[in-house]
Formats: sequence, C-alpha cells, structure tokens
Amino acid sequence: MAAAELLAYRDEVADCTKCALSHGRTQVVFGAGSPNADLMFVGEAPGFHEDKQGVPFVGAAGQLLTRLLGEIGIAREDVYINNVLMCRPPGNRDPRPDEIQACEPHLWKKIELIQPKLICTLGNFATKLLSGRPAGITQVHGRPQDVVLGGNEVTLYPIFHPAAALYTPRMLAVLQEDFARIPELLGRAVAPPLPPEPEPVAAQPEQLGLF
Ligand code: URA
Repeated sequence: MAAAELLAYRDEVADCTKCALSHGRTQVVFGAGSPNADLMFVGEAPGFHEDKQGVPFVGAAGQLLTRLLGEIGIAREDVYINNVLMCRPPGNRDPRPDEIQACEPHLWKKIELIQPKLICTLGNFATKLLSGRPAGITQVHGRPQDVVLGGNEVTLYPIFHPAAALYTPRMLAVLQEDFARIPELLGRAVAPPLPPEPEPVAAQPEQLGLF
C-alpha cells in the first residue's frame, strides 16, 4: 500500500517548481529504498551524481553510508534514503531557508507514507529541520530523541553526515560508534556485518557529488 502511494506521490512531484532549484536540476531526486523501511536516513541535498542519476547518496558519501550500514548488518535496500532537498543546489552550496521551506512538505509526506520507526538525520540541516531545534550536530549526534513527525511517533537519531569523514578521516570512528547503536534503537539484535563493498574509486573533491 505504502509502495503504491509512494510511487504515485513520486510521479506527482516529478515536475515540482516550488522553488528556484527546479531551473537548474537534471531531475528531482525523490528518495530510494524500501517503502516499508523501519529505518530512514535524511541527508542534505543531492550532489552532482545524485542529480544525474536521480538517486540519493550514490557519490562518495553514499558509498560510505552503504559501507557503514553493511558494518552493522543492514543492507541499503532495506532502508529508505532521502534528503531535506530533492533538487541539487548549484555548486553544491548549502540549502537556503526558502528552499527548505518549499521542500519540507515532501519530506513530511514521505515520512507519513513510509512510517519509519527510526530516522537518522545526517548532518546539521536534517537534524535542525526534523528536531525543530537550533542545536547543531556536534552537540546532539548520537543522542536519540522521541518525536512525532508526519503524524507518527518516531525516534530521531542525529548522526554526522558521512561526508564529514571524507574530509576529516578521524570522524569515521565517531560515525561507526553512532551507527553501532542503530540495531539497538531498532529493537534488533546486532547482526554480523555484511560482506564489505568494493573500495570506492578515489575522486577529486569537485567530483564527489557532496553538498
Ligand atoms: N549528500 C547528501 O546530503 N545527499 C546526497 O544525496 C548526496 C550527498
């Protein structure tokens, strides 16, 4: 049921012109994954590769996200991945308040349809929007909180954006530590890690498709 409604909603918003980002995008990057996911990730905005492929988190940060999930025994296909913004900001600049305001009803609708139990917000923009609070990710990462979103009770779990570890390698351990609590927050036993993904090909920062 959620799957059909999600597909219908995806079609409905494919031509969205609610903000100026619609002028520069290749396509709307709606979201990807299981429509029945208990676990949802909310990142910032599509980058270069996401804009081209129409799928969130397929660049270097996305490869790291897939790896971090694999390390806790969760397959990417079993979660739902999306962003605060569905269209790429030019040059991967930060989302602007008017763009977030225009796009947030789409995010609330997806949450309403998918009804995840746990939402991991990746980085500052998703964390501030979904918590409704100004506290930044450095302050609140790794601290779950129960909230009502899209009409559902959900646990919000702020985590650093995986891109942080691409720029600052010591952040990887922090991310791994925060990811390690996800199975417990989902009420699951910790599963053995999935086989590792192949090593990502090194890319230049401007090719990373981040921010
Ligand atoms: N960074 C994000 O926040 N989202 C993506 O989809 C890709 C990179």
